[in-house]
Amino acid sequence: MTDTRPILFFDSGVGGLSVLAPTRALLPHAPFVYAADNAGFPYGTKSEAEIAARVPALLGRLAERYHPRIIVIACNTASTIALAHVRSALELPIVGTVPAIKPAALASKSRVIGVLGTDATVRQPYVDNLAAGFAADCLVLRHGSAELVEAAEAKLRGETPDPAIFARAMTGMTGQPGGDRLDIVVLACTHFPLVEAELAAASPHALAFVHGAEGIARRIASLTQGQQWPGAPGPGTIVFTAANPDLEAMRPALRSYGLTLDETL
Ligand code: DGL
Repeated sequence: MTDTRPILFFDSGVGGLSVLAPTRALLPHAPFVYAADNAGFPYGTKSEAEIAARVPALLGRLAERYHPRIIVIACNTASTIALAHVRSALELPIVGTVPAIKPAALASKSRVIGVLGTDATVRQPYVDNLAAGFAADCLVLRHGSAELVEAAEAKLRGETPDPAIFARAMTGMTGQPGGDRLDIVVLACTHFPLVEAELAAASPHALAFVHGAEGIARRIASLTQGQQWPGAPGPGTIVFTAANPDLEAMRPALRSYGLTLDETL
């Protein structure tokens, strides 16, 4: 019998699409469900306690409904806060998304790297540990931006966000002491690769960006190696945790990611 169990991607909003895209490219026959917790959006301004309580409970409900073969927490905020809670609550392989500080430190020539995430992510001990473990000889400049998350959502609705938002995000790092030597920025929120071109255009000096999406896609491929996939990919489903008034505006972008069906949890 064909194994039709999907890969379940999870984020507060559309950010996880930046992880879904390289995974689909690598595993074109994989059925997938993309869950957007729009009822809880945004995560980046919430407390650790709220995220730690909300995410495992929600993923439990999603796992019961969709019987995924693997869950991908395509959200840095949820992963840096709740990955361990989710892993202990669910008996399924769970892949997290955490800031790509290691590859940034390997690539940086100036030894000044930026971590651009949500307010919640950039203050996490998880990030302290990554910086201490992989970038101990680097100056790590952190900046949290909630408006950048909103800008990425707006872009997916077909809107053009105010360029000042991207300029503020970049100067939030380059304006810190040592920021003039910044040569690589970790996009530590899955929404941010969706606006990478706008961030690059707004940067006061040329620099590189790095994020973990391709690495996560390879990790998913390795964890599902040897498993069966249906002969042809079915329609991708996006499930929202509340009715989404922006769904029609988002539909063209969702379709471009292969998401043609929608449901509400
Ligand atoms: N996309 C999410 C992340 O990677 C969170 C965005 C938000 O809800 O604030 O952190």
